[in-house]
Amino acid sequence: MTQQPEPTTTADTELPLGPAHRRGPLRAGERVQLTDSKGRLHTILLTHDGYFQSQRGSFRHSELIGQPEGTVLTTTTGHQILALRPLLSDYVLSMPRGAAVIYPKDAGQIVQMGDIFPGARVVEAGVGSGGLTMSLLSAIGERGLLLSVERREDFADIARGNVESWFGGPHPAWDVRVGDLADVLPDAVEPGTVDRVVLDMLAPWENLEAVADALAPGGVLVAYVATTTQLSRFVEEARGTELFTEPQAWEAMVRTWHLEGLAVRPDHRMVAHTGFLVTTRRLAPGTTPQQRTRRPAKGAYSPDAEWSPSDVGERTISDKKVRRVRRDIHRRAEIEVSGMASQPGVPPADTQDEDLLSHPEE
Ligand SMILES: C[S@@+](CC[C@H](N)C(=O)[O-])C[C@H]1O[C@@H](n2cnc3c(N)ncnc32)[C@H](O)[C@@H]1O
Repeated sequence: MTQQPEPTTTADTELPLGPAHRRGPLRAGERVQLTDSKGRLHTILLTHDGYFQSQRGSFRHSELIGQPEGTVLTTTTGHQILALRPLLSDYVLSMPRGAAVIYPKDAGQIVQMGDIFPGARVVEAGVGSGGLTMSLLSAIGERGLLLSVERREDFADIARGNVESWFGGPHPAWDVRVGDLADVLPDAVEPGTVDRVVLDMLAPWENLEAVADALAPGGVLVAYVATTTQLSRFVEEARGTELFTEPQAWEAMVRTWHLEGLAVRPDHRMVAHTGFLVTTRRLAPGTTPQQRTRRPAKGAYSPDAEWSPSDVGERTISDKKVRRVRRDIHRRAEIEVSGMASQPGVPPADTQDEDLLSHPEE
C-alpha cells in the first residue's frame, strides 16, 4: 500500500496550528473515527500499544499507525472497519460535554449569517463545552481574536480541554475567561472595538447593554436560544434599548437523505429542533432606530389585556365563515346517516365536498 508523504513545506510545519496534523498517514496520539459495517461510530486515540475491541472484532492500533486515512481494515472476526480522522462536525458531537453544544448545522449558520471573518475580533458567551468556540476560531484564524466568557469554571476547563485537543495545543487567537459576561466584558475590551458577539446562554437579554458598549458601529450580535419565549424576550428587549437594528430570527432544519438505489428519499428521523437564531446590528452611537413602516398587530404589545388571536398574529375566522362551516358539517352528517345525496332542502351531492370545510376566508 502506498503511503502519503509527510508534510514537507515549511509553512505547514511552522504554523502553531498548521494543517500538518490533519494530513498525512495516521500517527500515534491522534484521534481516529472508526465506522463499522453497520455505520456505528467509535472514536479512539491511536497508541503504539493500543488495542480496539468491539462486538465486530478487534485489531491492534499498530495496524493503523502509518496507514493513510480512509483505510479499511479487517478485524479478527472478519468484519471491516473504516478509519478516518474525524471532521470538526464529527468531533463536536463526540467530544466530552459539560453543557449541550451548538450543533454543526447551527454553528455553520452562525459563522455565515454572523459574518465571522478572518482576523475578526469576536466575543462569545457562554462557552459551555467549547463546541461553537472551535468553529469561531477556525473562521477568524490565528490573526483574529476570540474572547470566550464562561461563568462556570468547570465548564471553561472542559471547553479548554476540548479546544486544545482539537487544535493540537493552545490557540493563539483564544482568550478564555471565567466570569459573568456583563462583569468581564467592560474590563476585557475597549468600548466600540468588537466586530461580532455570539451569545448562547439562558438569558442573553441581560447582557444587551454590555454588548452594545463593546460592539463597533455595524457590529453583529447573534443570539442562539432554545425556546420561543426566550426569543421573544430577547427581541423585545433588544428593540427596547434603541441601540440595535431590527432583529431577524430564523431556525435551520436539516433533513438527511436515505440513498439506496431507487429508494432515494428523506430519512424518516431528523433532529427537528435545536434552537432559534436571531441577529441584530449595533447602530451608530447617538442614532435612533428607524421608524418601522409596517405597524405591529393591534394589541401585540398589550401585556395586561387578554390575548386575542390577532394579538399573536393568528388569522381570525369570521362569524359568517363559522356559520357556513357548521352548516356544511350538518349537511355532511345527514348524508352520512341517510346515504342519500339529495334531500329536501339540501343542495345536490356534487356540492357536498370536503372543500366546503376549508373554503377560503370570506
Ligand atoms: C448551552 S451552554 C453553551 C454551549 C456552547 N455554545 C457550545 O457550543 O458548547 C450555555 C453556557 O452559558 C453559560 N452562561 C450562562 N449565562 C452566562 C453569563 N451571563 N456569562 C457567562 N456565561 C454564561 C452557562 O454556564 C453555560 O455553560
